[in-house]
Amino acid sequence: MTNPVSVTVEDGIALVTIDNPPVNALSLAVRQGIMDAVTRIEGDASVGAAVLACAGRTFVAGADIREFGKPPVEPHLPDVLAAIEASRVPWVAAVHGTALGGGLELALACHARIADPAAKLGLPEVTLGLVPGAGGTVRLPRLVALDDAIDMVTSGKPVGAKKANGIGLVERIADGDLLADARTYAAELNQSGKPEAVSARPPREVPGDDFWAEKEKAIAARARGQASPVEALHALRDGVTLPVPDAFAAERARFLRLRDSEQAAALRYMFFAERNTGRPADIEGVDPLPLDSTGVVGGGTMGAGIAAAMLLAGMTVALAERDADAAGKAQERVAGILDGSRKRGLLSDAAHDDALSRFSAHDNYGALADCDLVIEAVFEEMGVKNAVFAELDRVCRPDAVLASNTSYLDVNAIAEATKDPSRVVGLHFFSPAHIMKLLEIVRTDAAAPTTLATAFALAKKLKKIPVLAGVCDGFIGNRIMSAYRRECDFILEEGALPQDVDAAMRGYGFAMGIYAVQDMAGLDIAWAMRKRRAETRPSDERYSKIADRICELGRFGRKTGAGWFAYPSDGAKAGQPDPAIEAIILEESARLGYERKTFTADEIMQRILSSMQAEARAVLDEGIALKPSDIDVTMVHGYGFPRHKGGPMFAAGIRD
Ligand code: 3HC
Ligand code: NAI
Repeated sequence: MTNPVSVTVEDGIALVTIDNPPVNALSLAVRQGIMDAVTRIEGDASVGAAVLACAGRTFVAGADIREFGKPPVEPHLPDVLAAIEASRVPWVAAVHGTALGGGLELALACHARIADPAAKLGLPEVTLGLVPGAGGTVRLPRLVALDDAIDMVTSGKPVGAKKANGIGLVERIADGDLLADARTYAAELNQSGKPEAVSARPPREVPGDDFWAEKEKAIAARARGQASPVEALHALRDGVTLPVPDAFAAERARFLRLRDSEQAAALRYMFFAERNTGRPADIEGVDPLPLDSTGVVGGGTMGAGIAAAMLLAGMTVALAERDADAAGKAQERVAGILDGSRKRGLLSDAAHDDALSRFSAHDNYGALADCDLVIEAVFEEMGVKNAVFAELDRVCRPDAVLASNTSYLDVNAIAEATKDPSRVVGLHFFSPAHIMKLLEIVRTDAAAPTTLATAFALAKKLKKIPVLAGVCDGFIGNRIMSAYRRECDFILEEGALPQDVDAAMRGYGFAMGIYAVQDMAGLDIAWAMRKRRAETRPSDERYSKIADRICELGRFGRKTGAGWFAYPSDGAKAGQPDPAIEAIILEESARLGYERKTFTADEIMQRILSSMQAEARAVLDEGIALKPSDIDVTMVHGYGFPRHKGGPMFAAGIRD
């Protein structure tokens, strides 16, 4: 095996380069290579300073996650970093791309840091169920204010180079050539003297117990049962309160304990599952359409969100609505989303204006004629969708891909409305479409490889996670969701109330319960789906009428001011339990002859998980999903299943 770490010496400055594609992860060979580089530099009197840099697209992106399931092998990362810190010469880390986890810890062990202006630096270990394991929680609070350290370590979110410079994490920002500037910096330090090792400096702040207790409360509330954020806070507390050698040892012990935990295994599994969602074999090597110019039909909640997502990804979007009034409203919706992104600081003024300039809303389909891809997001009714696709077939370029964002409808039947069904595909976005990462790509029977390749290319451009699904009522996600929602309604009939079910789901780690989610999304689309299925539903199949009775009252959720919960107009955001709903539920229990019983949160969750897993198995058996991990990715990214539990298939022990 070639050594992934090389050392060259020029004018008394050693350049240590790590070259371990794709992301320079700290595999055993890299750790050993750095250790050898330290030894070499210590023994070469001609070297007065060292620059540590990386080849390829990024600085070190962390420990090698693939080694986590195995016993640690020497040299351990903390020992490598201690050797750098103890070096007789100053080391300057030259950071480009992303310095993450062990990568940032490596930079912290150097005596100074310089970053490319586009670099990002972070400690994302919490997102893998861990805490930093190589001194991050000891060194970071000696460079930056404690609040900044807590934010970085407990959220796992990286900071940009400019902010990193502002808070004291990197001393310099490169002005042009990173390596040249890093050499200059190293030469200066060779002259002026080696800066004190970061771990030898005092912590910036050492607050008392009350401070830590308050932070812990807030962090635990946000973590929804995930252990690592609070563990990370505890590691930081040790980092600033214990003697440094003890703090290093305590951090390492915590890291190793968490590494073997079920949550870390689940999060590691998710990390790879998200990157390995299945692609159909027949699209390998097939060129997608260029996607320079795209179209959307329908500018309601989803159409506007999809248009915004494509604009934010640099595409040009023409949107067609029913009439001028609706086109005007669509224009306002899209402008509102882009403005929201600007206000949240996600978009500069110039980028906002540029995105908006690439958008146009129309009251006819003429502007869609030259698009590579058109996505339909009109009302969820087969008649309306068929009429739209027949019109798109007439207006659009013959090779354009035509996609439907339908939630449940048969995309094969929609494709039949066109002369060339091979160019039709389902693209099921999740609301809000410019934020949610998941994109279900629904493969129709006739879909051509180019059509699918274009759908996958779109997901990539939008930085979304594509999951391939087959045609059925609700595809992967909505089909499984319908199954557990049905089970939840049965639980209501047998004794629980909506607030009990929602509390059990939140307790398990869901961001929201199923009833609050329905109120947010609207109850009408699922009602229409149930009415459609009524004709073919076996008469002996168990069916709860509670949801239908609520819809019959015109209670479609938040948008109508009431649904499963009441939404009083006093500004309270969360829904309130409503006696009118309880009355309906009690009536249904009585009508069906159920003696209402009390459910524990565990019993509720067991029923929900079992129904989810049973439907997921059917989805797999029928070939609707390619593999179990695709189902887990769908449920985590589309339906709020807690990521640290790995998804329903992982929880059931079912692997790819
Ligand atoms: N270990 C092993 N493989 C890794 C890896 C890592 N730390 N990070 C990324 N990879 C792999 C990916 O699996 C992928 O492999 P593939 O091509 O075979 O599918 C490849 O590198 C490229 O990754 P992405 O597709 O994610 O590329 P992007 O350019 O979109 O993103 C990234 C790059 C921002 C670096 C992203 O990969 C990432 O966030 N990686 C994880 C970083 C992380 O969590 N580091 C902390 C690790 S824990 C740690 O360091 C413990 C320490 O404290 C002791
Ligand atoms: P919506 O009611 O907010 O918007 C539909 C829009 O389509 C309206 O603006 C309407 O004027 C327009 N429209 C209707 N007929 C048209 C036609 N012939 N030509 C042009 N425009 C037309 O509905 P929403 O929520 O945006 O849903 C749209 C589609 O997306 C549905 O198929 C729905 O099932 C699906 N979907 C909805 C999700 C949600 O959370 N709301 C999530 C994922 C998919």
